[in-house]
Amino acid sequence: MGFEIDYLRRKLLNTMRHKIVAGNWKMNKTLEEAMEIAIALQERKEDVPHGVKVIIAPPALYLANIEMMEEPFFYLSAQNCSHHDFGAFTGEISAAMLDGMNIPFCILGHSERRQYFHETDELIASKIDACLRHNVQPIFCCGEVLEERKDKKHFITVLHQIEKALFHLTADQMEKVIVAYEPVWAIGTGVTASNDEAQEMHAFIRKSIGDHFGKEVSDQIHILYGGSVNPANSEALFACPDVDGGLVGGASLKANDFMTIIKSAAH
Ligand code: 13P
Repeated sequence: MGFEIDYLRRKLLNTMRHKIVAGNWKMNKTLEEAMEIAIALQERKEDVPHGVKVIIAPPALYLANIEMMEEPFFYLSAQNCSHHDFGAFTGEISAAMLDGMNIPFCILGHSERRQYFHETDELIASKIDACLRHNVQPIFCCGEVLEERKDKKHFITVLHQIEKALFHLTADQMEKVIVAYEPVWAIGTGVTASNDEAQEMHAFIRKSIGDHFGKEVSDQIHILYGGSVNPANSEALFACPDVDGGLVGGASLKANDFMTIIKSAAH
């Protein structure tokens, strides 16, 4: 009975704004190492606080291996997918395939894909469409490079990214999108946006979404912060009113650090 109530309470997380902590493992770890992290987290599933949804994005090759990570404590995500559903596209995986494997989330538009794989806003928009066609929730990444911030163009850069990738959606579709603000200068550098910088941009993103889709949508959309989140800075970042959690890279590769970050989202 206790378990059922707990389960239902956690299931409710799917329908209201709450904290989300997502771990992006990028192209790291052997299968054996990945399993060690997954098992360590799974063993501590009861430490995941109520009201916090945890998403794990391992390399796609390992998704089936870590399927034992149990909802509603942990949800799985891909790190990318094709904008095509099926076909002769060697090396690609599709949203239709993720759906077939019951993978509920997919990160899209990460700055590493924009930079190293030349992904354009238009391509990202069509990947968003592919995910929504197949019941996969996109975790859409946006964020400016250092030059743009220095030139005070960070708001316009992020606005353009959001407009081009998301503004063609209906309000119902937009409600399924999780936005991750990841300033490129903060990714993997150890330099984190200050709490004020994060809050300011998150409030701007929420307002921009509200201006286009209406307040009902912007009030419930999740906006995560990513870029050198660690166990020492996560609590203060997540306490900012418009920061609904984090998209964590390096620190998600250490089970203890990641669990500390997850727990800090409850405060
Ligand atoms: P780091 O946490 O390693 O800076 O990476 C952030 C990120 O890119 C998550 O997608």
